[in-house]
Amino acid sequence: MRRFIVIGHKAATAADFKLDDLAGGAGRLDVLLRCINSAFFLSHDIRRDVEVVLILQGPPGPVRTIRLVGSELRYLNPDERSTGALIRNALMRDAKGEERSTPGIYVSARSFQDVLALLDKGTELVYLREDGQDIRGVELPKDVTFVLSDHMDLSPDEEDLLLQYGPRVLTLGPMSYHADHCITIVNNELDRRSL
Ligand SMILES: C[S@@+](CC[C@H](N)C(=O)[O-])C[C@H]1O[C@@H](n2cnc3c(N)ncnc32)[C@H](O)[C@@H]1O
Repeated sequence: MRRFIVIGHKAATAADFKLDDLAGGAGRLDVLLRCINSAFFLSHDIRRDVEVVLILQGPPGPVRTIRLVGSELRYLNPDERSTGALIRNALMRDAKGEERSTPGIYVSARSFQDVLALLDKGTELVYLREDGQDIRGVELPKDVTFVLSDHMDLSPDEEDLLLQYGPRVLTLGPMSYHADHCITIVNNELDRRSL
């Protein structure tokens, strides 16, 4: 399975945002919604072997984590507004443990630290960073987890935490790309290898 963990540093943690203000009042939730699109959507299909974990760290807090499971997803459409509504529904839940909001969408109070600690031991962990080793020269297993940031870099504390797990640090190319574009590039890179 391919998994993408994306940190939304300013992303809303309460459901009181407007769907026509996803890039403003929702704390750049638009960035994370585009990541969902890039991770799951093919031209006329959904990638079932993909999971996306969004860690929302914005106000009012505390942190909420939304997990989307490709094999279970229903009602996911390519427009950001309708996916924003699914995320907003999930945030309406007072999740103590992890709770299902709609098919394939789960919400919890897990932090980045919790998410990393709960990763299955068999998955290869990859930190996507502009100055990493070129992904093209690196063999990756089918079961792989990529960590990337939103419109900001990981904070030093987040990076220190992630590095404790010994990830591969890989680059996708010589420019700094949008997070959703990184996911598209990774999907394409891995698709070509599995032909
Ligand atoms: C828009 S970039 C981060 C913001 C950017 N570093 C800045 O503050 O100007 C979003 C994330 O995508 C990933 N990323 C962007 N370009 C990349 C590249 N060439 N190789 C690997 N990861 C990349 C990194 O995880 C980065 O944190």
